[in-house]
Amino acid sequence: MSQAQTVDGSAMRPGGIWAAPGRVNIIGEHTDYNGGYCLPMALPQVVRCTAMPRTDGLARVGSQQHPGERIEVPIQELAQAAVTGWSRYPLGVVHEYHRRGHHIPGVDLELDGSVPIGAGLSSSAALECAVAIALRDLFELPVPDTELIDIANRAENDYVGAPTGTLDQTASIRCVAGHALFLDAGTGHTEQVPFDLAAAGLALLIVDTNTPHALVDGEYARRRRECEAAAAELGVERLRDVTDVRAVAALADPVLRRRARHVVSENARVLTVVQALREGSDPRVIGPVLTAAHTSLRDDFMVSTAQLDTAVDSALDAGAHGARMVGGGFGGSIIALVDARGTDRVVAEIRNRFRAARFAEPRTFVAVPSAGARRVDHQ
Ligand code: GLA
Repeated sequence: MSQAQTVDGSAMRPGGIWAAPGRVNIIGEHTDYNGGYCLPMALPQVVRCTAMPRTDGLARVGSQQHPGERIEVPIQELAQAAVTGWSRYPLGVVHEYHRRGHHIPGVDLELDGSVPIGAGLSSSAALECAVAIALRDLFELPVPDTELIDIANRAENDYVGAPTGTLDQTASIRCVAGHALFLDAGTGHTEQVPFDLAAAGLALLIVDTNTPHALVDGEYARRRRECEAAAAELGVERLRDVTDVRAVAALADPVLRRRARHVVSENARVLTVVQALREGSDPRVIGPVLTAAHTSLRDDFMVSTAQLDTAVDSALDAGAHGARMVGGGFGGSIIALVDARGTDRVVAEIRNRFRAARFAEPRTFVAVPSAGARRVDHQ
């Protein structure tokens, strides 16, 4: 990219292009905000952010997905500005840097994304992380990855107003191609776990049910509050501290008992899957664990939908080794662990059953574990 000039003719930093991926969570759902475990991998689909410096204190954002809309706000005024819609995500990140005292003299951000929106595949974290990494590199800000994740997460929690945990941003920043990322959300500790399904003749099929979810709506926040209430009643700081699922029987309220049972059993399932992968076991063994996670999300955490259940049941009936809904729930996607050669059969079965039920046409693709956030133009 050519060296730009400022108004007074002095040389300005050149801009660049950065990309951050969406993610799919292999297992460990609704555990992150309970200080528990997750096992995401990055998708090949990314959000790209072209960033150019400015010197006039303005943050300007545009998006290929929203042509004709260009939002321009003085960085100093981001806290009070009436920013709405998609631009809250990128501008929330700019604001979070500013709030922490990192100097951004002004910036132009142009966004372009291929992560399906509202599909439970973290398009919002991909957007936040692409902007966060672009700003850090462009202005050479002294921000380690741990803080970068925190900046992107706070933008979503505080500026957008979605009370999500750290799973999505950690995955987008820290994932490595060919690996799943074991995250201990209680400590922030991560471990790269080799995840090579192709070598075992397997594939991870993603089925987007085309029923968008919204995390800003109340159900996600309600689940969080229920988990906090269950932890308080059990006398622990976070549900992660409960390791024996029988302990949840002490909860008087049947709803809180179910929510806690999901979280405690889900943490155990993540550890089982991680152990199997670390030991290099045949990945088919994780199939039933994925399916058990779905049952728990459906019956105990109660975040599934008719479309998600139909997709899971059809995949299993057509020979998948395991299947489950992914992400926050109330719509979005499922994953199915399938024999690579049987993928078409599973897809056909799901499509047939969706047609019969008069559901929206699902979108399907096979995902390979891909790279985390990075600069993508030459430097
Ligand atoms: C959403 C949130 C994450 C996590 C998942 C459920 O994706 O953004 O923090 O809580 O739901 O596992």
